[in-house]
Amino acid sequence: MSLTVVTGSASGIGAATRAALLEEGKEVVGVDLRDADITADLSTREGRRGAVDAVLQRCGGTLDGLVLCAGLGPHVDDAERIVAVNYFGTIAMLDGLFPALRKGDDAAAVVVSSVSSTHITWDDNPLASVIESGDEAGVGPALEVGGEYKGQFAYAGSKNALTVAVRRRVAEWGAAGVRLNTVAPGSVETPLLSQGMADARYGQAIREFVAPIPRHAKPEEVATLISYLLSPKAGFVHGSQLVIDGGVDALLRPTRF
Ligand code: NAI
Repeated sequence: MSLTVVTGSASGIGAATRAALLEEGKEVVGVDLRDADITADLSTREGRRGAVDAVLQRCGGTLDGLVLCAGLGPHVDDAERIVAVNYFGTIAMLDGLFPALRKGDDAAAVVVSSVSSTHITWDDNPLASVIESGDEAGVGPALEVGGEYKGQFAYAGSKNALTVAVRRRVAEWGAAGVRLNTVAPGSVETPLLSQGMADARYGQAIREFVAPIPRHAKPEEVATLISYLLSPKAGFVHGSQLVIDGGVDALLRPTRF
């Protein structure tokens, strides 16, 4: 039976993806802080190492699918933790499980980025030099530029870096026969969004912004896209970022794509 690992499986998009894959008859191993097959804290080096080891033990070194959803929103007060989970936690799982995916059957991975990844460019990303050097300790000083809005810098910066990291792996992963893509959701009805809407700094802007399709996505709609990207139907889709945002990106950046 096909085996897929889903991080952030206890809530929101990860939980919906887990449910969709189970419905398709796949075996799913969830990774999260709680309520998961493997409990791990992806904000720490030890937690990431433990999660990779536990997955490898569980899957016997061979994996068919990987979905990296675990993440924190911009409202979280500890901005360094946002980067630790969203970027470093995701990349540790991606690279740590690549050898297992290489051995998998028509394997594919999907990283959940965000439309926020397009709100800055790599050239303007305050995290770029820290990430190039792999120096996680440099994240705090790099985020100082964000002042009161450090969380937004951490969020957009980490999501921009994730999309860049996926695109940079496209040659090696393609040659290994493992497809790798990102999805970039706009607002999705999950606890992360509810917490953002209740936040004193970001809440009003999130609540008042209306997408061309005037509602938030359901987590199940994002799960459907992820399931497609994992499937052989997406056999030539590789290194792509599929936006699922009710038209927001096209509205804000009609001439850039
Ligand atoms: P959520 O809050 O419902 O789920 C996130 C999951 O990640 C939770 O189960 C949480 O326990 C887990 N997690 C957080 N920190 C962790 C850690 N240190 N170690 C292990 N697991 C950890 O949020 P949602 O909305 O489902 O988010 C999933 C992904 O989608 C995130 O990467 C988020 O940035 C992204 N996203 C969400 C959007 C939205 O509007 N909800 C929009 C664009 C992207």
